[in-house]
Amino acid sequence: MNIIVGETKLSDLKIWFTEYVHTFIFCNPDLQRNIDLKEEHTRHVCYDIILIGKELGLNENELRFAEIIALFHDLGRFEQYARYRTFLDGKSVDHAELGVEILEKHNILNQFDDGLKNLIISTIRYHNQPVLPKNETETCLFYTKLLRDADKLDIWRVVIDYYSRKNGKKNDTISLDLPDTPEISEKVSQDIIHRKTVSINDVKNMNDLKLLQTGWIFDINFKPTVDYIKSHRYLERMREVLPESDIIKEIFEVIHTFCLEQELIPSPDNVTR
Ligand SMILES: [Fe+2]
Repeated sequence: MNIIVGETKLSDLKIWFTEYVHTFIFCNPDLQRNIDLKEEHTRHVCYDIILIGKELGLNENELRFAEIIALFHDLGRFEQYARYRTFLDGKSVDHAELGVEILEKHNILNQFDDGLKNLIISTIRYHNQPVLPKNETETCLFYTKLLRDADKLDIWRVVIDYYSRKNGKKNDTISLDLPDTPEISEKVSQDIIHRKTVSINDVKNMNDLKLLQTGWIFDINFKPTVDYIKSHRYLERMREVLPESDIIKEIFEVIHTFCLEQELIPSPDNVTR
């Protein structure tokens, strides 16, 4: 598919995005912080998608297209938070679908031909799905994978910084209001050991949540993403914020083996303590 996106189109969309986000203003600083967090997340995903895209050899038009899907992937988050005060889709609404509705309501994508418009909508719709659709075009699957990798990189950045902080205020939108208790749910540990995606429905406490996020390593699509994970020590840092126990040791051995198979890491010392 020949993707053409001019520089002006991209900068106009960025201006619209900023203006749209700035319509969400809360007097309560805790609520505003969560809006700001999502705006910052979007900026980072835009940055990360270009980083990965460049490494994959995308041309300037394709990079601008990638930036557009990153810019809009979480558009629904702002309205979701304003309406429900949560980022949990299960307790509110599918934020990807809501984002698509908002784009359509504001006629933002009408300036694109049907092919590109549908491509943007599909990648946004698929970015938060547990599994990728089977009956989609290669182009759609490629950009969806690119978006999912960039999204994960930035969520790891945010949550690992949060988990590693020594002091600081609790943020329930990151911790999902889960208790910080010492146990690890059997279903969660068994899913990771079997290299399966952990379902949010099985997450009972912070350790489970950290493991769900650690397990995203099984769902990474591109080598440059892997290199980024490696250079930022995300797996090691995630292990550092989990308890030391036999089950954690076993889980990280599974991840270590997986990483070796994927040539993610050069030596065992990088993951095992
Ligand atoms: Fe999202």
